Amino acid sequence: MASDISNASPKLVVDHARKSFRQNNGVETTAIADLSFSVKSGEYVAIVGPTGAGKSVLLDCLLGLKHLDAGQIRIDGLPVENFVRDRKGHITRIFQEDRLLPWLSATDNAAFGLQIQGVAEAERRERAASWLDAVGLSAFKGALPRELSGGMRQRVNIARAFAPNPELVLLDEAFSALDDVTASRLRQDFKTLAQSQRTTFLIVTHSIDEAIFLANRILVFGAPARLMAEITVPPQAFEDRELSDRIKTEIRSLIVAGARRH
Ligand SMILES: Nc1ncnc2c1ncn2[C@@H]1O[C@H](COP(=O)(O)OP(=O)(O)OP(=O)(O)O)[C@@H](O)[C@H]1O
Ligand SMILES: [Mg+2]
Repeated sequence: MASDISNASPKLVVDHARKSFRQNNGVETTAIADLSFSVKSGEYVAIVGPTGAGKSVLLDCLLGLKHLDAGQIRIDGLPVENFVRDRKGHITRIFQEDRLLPWLSATDNAAFGLQIQGVAEAERRERAASWLDAVGLSAFKGALPRELSGGMRQRVNIARAFAPNPELVLLDEAFSALDDVTASRLRQDFKTLAQSQRTTFLIVTHSIDEAIFLANRILVFGAPARLMAEITVPPQAFEDRELSDRIKTEIRSLIVAGARRH
């Protein structure tokens, strides 16, 4: 995985973050309780935790789509709102549901983030096309999303996420809507492409196997979001069955302990 991250400065700092919502019935739900962690530049960090732990809310806050009630998120030392405003398109995402625009071709969808960055059209198309080559969709550049399978659409999403040379890539259950075989092929391809980039990854997943396969470090969240444990993943963990089973058992018991009591 990414080399020489030990001396890297923090890319992302989440410092005593809190976020609650008032539901329609007036009841307040805490999504993020008191969350602090940091991620170094070039790290691959997975977040696992029970359902309702505020993982997706956290990613929305990282994208500047939602705002904390208290605490701070800093990216490269900047408050997240400033980072999102000044470095447009440098945080990209690959989510479970593909968010491709149905009326645009694979190339135009893959170029979408570049448009946000203000890249000129010719360069946009060239970079998007070369990323479609990289994800194995050379023959489908003109295809509309409805003409592609779920796995192929997720490949377009991967191309779209990488094309802007992002500084931070967020994954939220990126492979969980796919069958096992497609998902593991896509995870492998994603990892290979990711390693060719100098980017930082935050990977939210319910699959502990995926976390062990993709991440250098796993953060285990309780619900509402708080850090229950950080687990460093040794490079050989995915191949070493005994080791990965031990990590999985530890994480599963933390997740059970951290679930909401209702
Ligand atoms: N817009 C909203 N309005 C009210 N409550 C919300 C809103 N968004 C999220 N919540 C609440 O915040 C909590 C955290 O939700 P979130 O979607 O982040 O969980 P999650 O960890 O991503 O869960 P999962 O693993 O199931 O995807 C939940 O209790 C949810 O009901
Ligand atoms: Mg979620």
